[in-house]
Amino acid sequence: DERSILSDQNSRFLVVTNREPIVIKGDQIKHPAGGVSQSLHRLLLKEGGIWIASRDSGGPDQLHVESSEGPGYDLERMNIPANLKSEFYEGFSNDVLWPAFHGCPEFMAPAPSFYSSYDQVNQMFARKIGKVLCTANPSVVWIHDYQLTRVALWLRKEHIPNLPPLAFFCHIPWPKKEHLTYISEHKEIIEGLLSHDLIGFQTEQDRENFLQATTSFIRNTEIRPDGMIRWNDRLIKAISMPIGVDSAMFDRMANNPRNLAKAHAILTANQLGNNARFLISVDRMDYTKGFIQRFEILRKLFSINPELRGKISLLQIAVPTRTGQKVYRNHQEKIRQGVLAINQEFGDKNWLPIISIEETLDQETLSGLYRLAEGALITSTIDGMNLVSQEFLASQHGGHGVLFLSRYTGTATILKNATAIDPLDPLQSAETIISELALPIELRRNRNLSLLEQIRQNDISHWISSLMSNISSYANIKKSLVA
Ligand code: G6P
Repeated sequence: DERSILSDQNSRFLVVTNREPIVIKGDQIKHPAGGVSQSLHRLLLKEGGIWIASRDSGGPDQLHVESSEGPGYDLERMNIPANLKSEFYEGFSNDVLWPAFHGCPEFMAPAPSFYSSYDQVNQMFARKIGKVLCTANPSVVWIHDYQLTRVALWLRKEHIPNLPPLAFFCHIPWPKKEHLTYISEHKEIIEGLLSHDLIGFQTEQDRENFLQATTSFIRNTEIRPDGMIRWNDRLIKAISMPIGVDSAMFDRMANNPRNLAKAHAILTANQLGNNARFLISVDRMDYTKGFIQRFEILRKLFSINPELRGKISLLQIAVPTRTGQKVYRNHQEKIRQGVLAINQEFGDKNWLPIISIEETLDQETLSGLYRLAEGALITSTIDGMNLVSQEFLASQHGGHGVLFLSRYTGTATILKNATAIDPLDPLQSAETIISELALPIELRRNRNLSLLEQIRQNDISHWISSLMSNISSYANIKKSLVA
């Protein structure tokens, strides 16, 4: 269903991301891996709006995406020349910013020309937003993530009359000063962010790191007593507003017999019979997700507790990601070898410790698998939030599956009573798994219900209301200063 963007004059949101929310294959529409685009996709289906992103697959440049959930949104797809795109995306975004922001300098592969391509593509995004703003009047321009830190800076140079509030959300951790300086252009990145009115971070720690970086590296900045940043003549509000999931939707999906049947089909296709006990993990095959550490945990688990062999497996949904980059291809190979090694060491002809599926499963099937699992194993060594852990709890509802949650995730700062593991300490993690799985079911169920309550309080609608209320309090402060 194609429709001109002109029809959507009063949309609430103008969302801007690098990754587009859909992949068009022939006459099929699929969704890319990664929690960010999927959360925003469901949000905009319900709320309506406009979405600008860079094109990744075939189909028209503009289209209307809708479902039964609400008005849907207009997607504006940008065509970025291939040479620029690769230096912007694989180059600066993923060979420089991603590893630096995640404190992994060993995975950085900078090259001198990357930054200028990155900045040019950010400028292209700004021009595109400028065009869309000629006909649309959204209540906020909401730019997302590390690929687009400089868009607002360029957008301000377009001198657009009545520019709506500019908000940014950083889905990944904001690094400590020492890690930020791995990036030669760190000042430019901070100045890009300071070009927004509102900057959102996942955690309080991320926000603090950002304020520190701002005062250390950028001249003419001041943190006012109310926490607002003054930079040159502008005021900027930096807040922590952790992203959440649509918990009601996961609960509903996991209760649907059709989705449970889909989940059972996956299990039987992978030699996990109807009553098989399994833990689940779902990740892009990224070096931040702790695959290698996970294998060590399993090695310990089946060594110190051999009676678990044959009794429980890990169902690992591992989605190939960023395969245009060598670092990722190498890491993905390492993951495959890791799976083989564990399976050879402990498995036999009737049982495998790890069943690894390299594909993107739809949310319905996943919700069913989350519901049926004995636990979820989250092993990220650093993770902005980690939505899988929240989707798992929402799908479990009154179930007794245990969330084994890496202490290095943003979600761990919200779910203080969850069962924390330290993926860098495989023995402790394995012991935790053993003792938790032995706990009475009633106890596990009650704990899940109380964690679920926290997930609900922090769900996606709370995220949006936090954005909107911060925008209006920002506007009030500005007004009071003018008065
Ligand atoms: C993370 C990032 C997102 C990104 C996603 C998938 O969640 O925070 O911005 O879209 O990974 O990565 P990709 O490179 O495929 O967009």
